[in-house]
Amino acid sequence: MASAVAYQSPPAAVEYDDGIVRLFVAAALFWGVVGMAMGVLIAAQMVFPSLNLDLPWTTFGRLRPVHTSGVIFAFGGNALIGTSFYVVQRTCRARLPGRFAAEFVFWGYQLFIVLAALGYVMGATAGREYAEPEWFVDLWLAVVWLTYGGLFVGVLLRRTEPHIYVANWFYLAFIVTITLLHVVNNLAVPVAWNEAKSYSLFGGVQDAMTEWWYGHNAVGFFLTAGFLGIMYYFLPKQADAPIWSYRLSILSFWSLVFMYMWAGPHHLHFTSLPDWVQTLGMAFSIMLWMPSWASTVNGFMTVSGRWDRLRTDPILRFMIVAVVFYGVATFEGPLMGVRTVNGLSHYTEWTISHVHSGALGWNGFITFGAIYYLVPRLWDRPGMHSRAAIEWHFWLGLAGIMLYVTAMWGAGVLQGLMWRAHTELGFLKYSFIESVEAARPYYAVRLLGGLLYLSGFLVMVWNVRRTIAGERFAAPRPAALAPAE
Ligand code: HEM
Ligand code: HEM
Repeated sequence: MASAVAYQSPPAAVEYDDGIVRLFVAAALFWGVVGMAMGVLIAAQMVFPSLNLDLPWTTFGRLRPVHTSGVIFAFGGNALIGTSFYVVQRTCRARLPGRFAAEFVFWGYQLFIVLAALGYVMGATAGREYAEPEWFVDLWLAVVWLTYGGLFVGVLLRRTEPHIYVANWFYLAFIVTITLLHVVNNLAVPVAWNEAKSYSLFGGVQDAMTEWWYGHNAVGFFLTAGFLGIMYYFLPKQADAPIWSYRLSILSFWSLVFMYMWAGPHHLHFTSLPDWVQTLGMAFSIMLWMPSWASTVNGFMTVSGRWDRLRTDPILRFMIVAVVFYGVATFEGPLMGVRTVNGLSHYTEWTISHVHSGALGWNGFITFGAIYYLVPRLWDRPGMHSRAAIEWHFWLGLAGIMLYVTAMWGAGVLQGLMWRAHTELGFLKYSFIESVEAARPYYAVRLLGGLLYLSGFLVMVWNVRRTIAGERFAAPRPAALAPAE
């Protein structure tokens, strides 16, 4: 079922703006180190609470959002914006309109990250998960994001290639939906124009529903649709094959866009949210198997017939393992969305295990693959400095994920079972603190997993630095490394 979409070299006349992509890639690496180091630090705090240092700005509560925003918005966001600029220019055979606007998006986005992180550490927070920045930071992000969207659409409008490749559909869904989610979820009234504090326009269960409509779709459109954009371009490029089924990618796209929006209530099972809304969320969670598995199958089948390459090409291996974890996380998610299963998993480390099989395995590995693909091309180098270092990164990363995910899954099921265990007389069998103590060995294993994953990432940063510091590519370029469309 090979697609008819062929990959041809761009006409020499189009000179793409790669300078801006280089900036975003470098920023993704920088913030990746910060965000993951924060993850390791808060993981260590769960094993050794004294690491909270008794200072307000170093407590788990303040550093946790620095980790989540650091990895999702700073590491993931920079990777998404950078790759989207690379992909849209090549697949549309058109240059970004306006260097100034692109620079504004880059520096404006970095300012947003710094303002958000400073706010968290100083205790200024809107208290909404994944949307913690206060109102003035939100307003700034809205301006930057709209400019980003304008630039992306600008390239689509200027395209000299009539067809819009499916990766751009996913990137566009990511840009449009994040605008909608960001604006609605952050509707708030500041206590005064010169005060950081604000209060949400919504109250009670409506407020909770708005937050989880946002939260779930942030997963669906930031951590899923955007990264699918990366997969649909870079996986076929690295495998040197067209995407297996273009039709399946379109099916995956439309089912994802229509269904994700309704699944948010699965974050609010057993709350005061009306039962029918919870049931709606549960039904749509199950239906989400469709888009998820459509893209998983598409990713696998693109590599089919080329499996032997996985032995020799660690970059392709990163990408295909990312697809495996996308399949794993999206298989588990709908199950956790079922109310009875959620009764066991909710509030436990099972959720954290699910999050990180998606985050480390899917988001992390597909980004690493794309960056390894990009760096030699963007900096005009013959290849990555060290292939052995890519292998090391791969195995350290995979070992890290396995330790992290299995430890948290074990801890989660243990917690869930301990919390619901009763004595014959109907009293709770365990106190809460007993479940905390029982989870401690698992936290230690998670810390080790996190350290391995971070070490692998540091190997990558070293490898990228050495690659950039190395010799430029002597002309003429071999066809395999020519800037691709
Ligand atoms: C078909 C797709 C998916 C479905 C139906 C799904 C469903 C769920 C469910 C039911 C929860 C637990 C809610 C709770 O008990 O509070 C959850 C949590 C979460 N999932 Fe997924 N998931 C999916 C895929 C993914 C993927 C690919 C990622 C990527 C990283 C991801 C990231 C998260 C995050 C970050 C949370 C934690 C939210 C929180 O802070 O409480 N999910 N998901
Ligand atoms: C070195 C690797 C990492 C380590 C050691 C780590 C560690 C942690 C820890 C300890 C927590 C707090 C869990 C809790 O509150 O019980 C957490 C939460 C979280 N992390 Fe990571 N993390 C890492 C990488 C990542 C990456 C790469 C991403 C995303 C791309 C990510 C996304 C998240 C999210 C979304 C949460 C919040 C989950 C929730 O509220 O349910 N992490 N992480």
